[in-house]
Amino acid sequence: MAEAPQGSIHGEALEALLHERRSFPPTPAFVAQANAQQSIYTDAADPVEWWSQEARTLEWATPWTTPLEWDLPFAKWFVGGRLNASVNCVDRHVTAGRGSRVAIHWIGEPEDDRRTITYNDLLAMVCQAANALTELGVRSGDRVAIYMPMIPETVVAMLACARLGAAHSVIFGGFSAEALSDRIQDADIRFVITADGGYRRGAPSALKAHVDEALKLCPEVHRTLVVRRTGQDVEWQEGRDVWWHDAVESQPTTHDPEYFDAEQPLYIMYTSGTTAKPKGILHTTGGYLTHVSTTYRYVFDLKPETDVVWTAADIGWVTGHSYIVYGPLANGATEVIYEGVPDAGGRDRWWRIVEEFKVSILYTAPTTIRTLMKWGEELPAAHDLSSLRLLGSVGEPINPEAWMWYREHIGGTRCPIVDTWWQTETGGIMITPLPGITAAKPGAAMRPFPGISVDVVDNDGRSVGNGEGGFLVITEPWPGMTRGIWGDPQRFKDTYWSRFPGAYFAGDGAKRDEDGDLWLLGRVDDVMNVSGHRLSTAEVEHAIVGHPDVAEAAVVGASDETTGQAVVAFVTLKQSAELGGGDEAPLVKAIRDVVAQSIGPFAKPRQIILTPELPKTRSGKIMRRLLRDVAEHRELGDVTTLTDPAVVNLIDEMMAVHGADED
Ligand code: WT7
Repeated sequence: MAEAPQGSIHGEALEALLHERRSFPPTPAFVAQANAQQSIYTDAADPVEWWSQEARTLEWATPWTTPLEWDLPFAKWFVGGRLNASVNCVDRHVTAGRGSRVAIHWIGEPEDDRRTITYNDLLAMVCQAANALTELGVRSGDRVAIYMPMIPETVVAMLACARLGAAHSVIFGGFSAEALSDRIQDADIRFVITADGGYRRGAPSALKAHVDEALKLCPEVHRTLVVRRTGQDVEWQEGRDVWWHDAVESQPTTHDPEYFDAEQPLYIMYTSGTTAKPKGILHTTGGYLTHVSTTYRYVFDLKPETDVVWTAADIGWVTGHSYIVYGPLANGATEVIYEGVPDAGGRDRWWRIVEEFKVSILYTAPTTIRTLMKWGEELPAAHDLSSLRLLGSVGEPINPEAWMWYREHIGGTRCPIVDTWWQTETGGIMITPLPGITAAKPGAAMRPFPGISVDVVDNDGRSVGNGEGGFLVITEPWPGMTRGIWGDPQRFKDTYWSRFPGAYFAGDGAKRDEDGDLWLLGRVDDVMNVSGHRLSTAEVEHAIVGHPDVAEAAVVGASDETTGQAVVAFVTLKQSAELGGGDEAPLVKAIRDVVAQSIGPFAKPRQIILTPELPKTRSGKIMRRLLRDVAEHRELGDVTTLTDPAVVNLIDEMMAVHGADED
């Protein structure tokens, strides 16, 4: 491999684990009642046929004529079929007589802020919102930006867009005004749904104010629909801004849905690539819905009559789209949605929620598990967590310590853990154990989901054997796969389909162990993973060089005990940038602020190292691996290709001076 992957397990620790081959077989309780039959992998031997069978569990107004048209790298699934995603997530459960089942137990961050929404309620809310959006001019084929906190209206807004055939583009509430306007412009969006703010860490945060600022650069946006969540003061532009409670809540509670082509765009989700410009990942309707509803049913072993599920992620990222909104609701599940941070009202907030709502399936990210772990096992131990029956992990490689802690202290050793590997681009889960069928190993995502074909290949694209590492590729089309990058088909081909011709290159390193099970080892490109947020080094560098005193910047993801990786920036200043009295602090703060302004506060570097020069190869390429070694306080690797030996000394100096510096 050109460069060691950036995952949290590597080197000797990984070797030790692979050697140990600690494995937890399926529990008898699951074997007896699992949704997946033992034959599931062989049943899916013909993937197109198998996925078609699964697609038939959805409600189609018109059946498809061709299950798959594959013109590499462009796929069309269920060609000719017509359906409506919101009907599949809501109406059909009501029609089937399950309208009084709770769809959403919503919990606000402030204590006692609760709403219970049944499928009947959800249908009425979605119909009202669809009627209002129609009145405000939203039509099939439009794109709508959604910049919202974690409240029920966010789900309703997404489903209402889907109902009208308008693609939503949800932008995570942590993004800055600048990031918001970039995305609105890229997707040519004319309509924004937002809220005055939301509750985060005990205080109301502002959202509408960011929209106002973003829209100064987006004259095409002629309407914003605003939910009142916190009651904070907001500026108001008459003629453009409309309150949700005025426009939506007086609408009729019924709406006749239209049915759309299976390939109707459902949403665009922006994600970071290896360049400074984020990619608008496009997902369409029929294949995507099939993928997320099927994986939700089998991977989480969902029993919609009795389970209470909680995907503790933000709706602003793909996990929220696939496994808060479309996957659970397509299956008629009852779910918990919690607005705030895990320690609002005390560090046992999550365990109080699990206990009170009898949550049975919990899905979250390793970074959160590690944070909860740091707070101590006394907190979960003080609550009745016996309702839990399955735990899931997603977003980054899970370190075995966190896996074992999750298993023992949250799952009471009885709950299977599913470590699910997937990406914004894949739409849904791709590699995972199946409860009741496959064993699980702490740190391994184990096996491709039925109907999914993956491989691990070497630099030349040759499949590696058991015990070997390489690059993860996906070798056959799958229903939830992205249909491309919005407005940039060439970039789609170049990014994913050119490294290994004929296969999708995921950007992750992987290893097959001696049993043939898959271990995901982290990114092999310049994409960082910070607390489950995907960030590109180029994007952060671009932001930093926007500061007038900065000449050059190199950003690396250094491993971090809690967040997986942390942003560390090496910065050289312009000659003119005199450090007044040698005090770096104000400038370092200004550089961090420029990142918050350009991307969002979550992207701020943990550490900024000012240096007179950056280490480069003879061809002028910044030696990131070396910088990562510095940032991680490791011994330096091979430095023979450095342009100037003086730089080597410089690096040594940086290690000595800044190695332990934390901002
Ligand atoms: C990248 C995708 C999938 C939704 C959340 C993140 C990493 C994701 C795992 C896992 C090891 C994982 C990969 C991947 N990743 N899940 N179970 N084990 N790595 O979506 O922002 O598109 O990021 O997250 O590196 O490429 P995303």
